[in-house]
Amino acid sequence: KDDLIVLGIETSCDDTAAAVVRGNGEILSQVVSSQADLLVQYGGVAPKMAEEAHSQAIDPVVREALDKAKLTESDLSAVAVTIGPGLSLCLRVGVQKARKIASRFNLPIIGVHHMEAHALVARLIEQELQFPFLALLISGGHNLLIVAHNLGQYTQLGTTIDDAIGEAFDKTAKWLGLDMSRSGGPAVEELALEGDAESVKFSTPMKQHKDCNFSYAGLKTQVRLAIESRNIDGKIPISSVSSQDRSSRADIAASFQRVAVLHLEERCERAIEWALKIEPSIKHLVVSGGVASNKTVRARLDQVVKKNNLQLVCPPPSLCTDNGVMVAWTGIENFRMGRYDPPPPVDDPEDYL
Ligand code: KG4
Ligand code: ZN
Repeated sequence: KDDLIVLGIETSCDDTAAAVVRGNGEILSQVVSSQADLLVQYGGVAPKMAEEAHSQAIDPVVREALDKAKLTESDLSAVAVTIGPGLSLCLRVGVQKARKIASRFNLPIIGVHHMEAHALVARLIEQELQFPFLALLISGGHNLLIVAHNLGQYTQLGTTIDDAIGEAFDKTAKWLGLDMSRSGGPAVEELALEGDAESVKFSTPMKQHKDCNFSYAGLKTQVRLAIESRNIDGKIPISSVSSQDRSSRADIAASFQRVAVLHLEERCERAIEWALKIEPSIKHLVVSGGVASNKTVRARLDQVVKKNNLQLVCPPPSLCTDNGVMVAWTGIENFRMGRYDPPPPVDDPEDYL
């Protein structure tokens, strides 16, 4: 049924997000409250601090999502919420909120896997996208290549053996003294535009491993060494360095990005080969997760996909980074298949604000 209206709640990492989505894919509202200022202050996600920030933000974020959609809780068909993977203290804030709404308004509740949501949101933006498809999911904590056979049926072709690509972007940004008031990825991408991507000879990870796994820890170390050997002091913000220092930082950013993306290209080439052996009818590569907002990532993978006569599906940046829409949409897909839980019992109706 397409008259479904689902609220999605996402609190797995450092963003508190909520959205309301219709069964036909119409996004009625989308709200994200980021903890970027906390990240700058503490230089990373501190779970206790993040939990605190989610607790502060969750009620107003959900309220705003409903208000923007011009709806109240009683108009909803169900509530979807991320239940993992993520920081458990943070996940709990979202889950408790979802349970309160579900019990108070007698709504079914759908527990959503964060990475599945990153993959499935591609089916919201590209209605043509049928199972099976291949997906590359790239974020701060994950680097996954999966074959999506059907809803809830996935084969993992590869994962990272150490860090995810987003983590490498974030550390590179920090060491280059970039403005971290957003996440590091966009800052590196922007600076890379000024640099020469061939100037620093970083080696591509795992060349000798003929599989679909990833590794970014070694590239991170190469970047750190290059920064040290050029006497770049990341504690001095890029806004206040000489133009020579700036251009040498830009060269590192561009060279890092080139090799980081080259590693994705090589793995995707092989993954396409492997995936077509298991599912010959695959026509699409989905690329999603925060790092999929990167223009070089999108352009280079588009080349790989075209060469193999497939099509690239890459959600717009606001749906690549963590958001409530992907959770609501994955809720809708599961709800349609009868995969949901009944409303939780009301323990304390007064508790709901
Ligand atoms: O999916 P996401 O929002 O959160 C996680 O589930 O981790 O991904 C966040 C990651 C961060 O590491 C961030 O630096 C990276 O995505 N990112 C980017 C870009 N935008 C976000 N990396 C490279 N280029 C970008 N434009
Ligand atoms: Zn994510």
